[in-house]
Amino acid sequence: CRIAVLISGRGSNMLALVRAARDGAIPNAQIVVVISDRADAPGLKLAAEQGIETLVIERRGRSRADHEREIIAALRARHVDLVCLAGYMRLLSPVFIEAYRWRTLNIHPSLLPSFPGLDAQRQALEHGVKWTGCTVHFVDETLDGGPIIEQRVVPVLDDDTVETLSARILAEEHKAYPAAVARVVRGELRLIGRRVISKS
Ligand code: GRF
Repeated sequence: CRIAVLISGRGSNMLALVRAARDGAIPNAQIVVVISDRADAPGLKLAAEQGIETLVIERRGRSRADHEREIIAALRARHVDLVCLAGYMRLLSPVFIEAYRWRTLNIHPSLLPSFPGLDAQRQALEHGVKWTGCTVHFVDETLDGGPIIEQRVVPVLDDDTVETLSARILAEEHKAYPAAVARVVRGELRLIGRRVISKS
């Protein structure tokens, strides 16, 4: 399975996927390209250090669809089978979603459908929930609303700040994302309505 990771920033989930593919935790998979919509994304350097091809494809005043068409062309040229969004800070339009439907995954730092969108960890703290976590889901036309593949739960502690809570969630993200991708790559999953369940 040829995987592309789309990033906008730090790239720690991208790195977790690269390592998992390399050590066999994601079977028969390789990260073939890391694409950022921002030239200053720190994750680009991390990917290059791993020997992975990196591309910067900025929007540069174009329409969202035209930006995505360039990304899709780059993915097709590399025969990419699966796209993993990892801190990619743009909403995808139907142009992209239709091109890679059921082949685009995202990770989000909350237990969806709670706290979609930006600042999910801050939203969780401000709401006062006692448990939160992370979610890996298929990307569809909704914001953080596609069918859920994997969730991990973490406690919210009394003395948590956005930073401490985010770090606790991030540690789970780095396990949840490779686990979810491995299940997709192995073809273990099927979709019934909105439910992603095991085939067996
Ligand atoms: C993660 O918290 C992820 O869940 C969210 O954006 C953050 C990206 O972090 N979508 P990183 O770039 O993977 O380190």
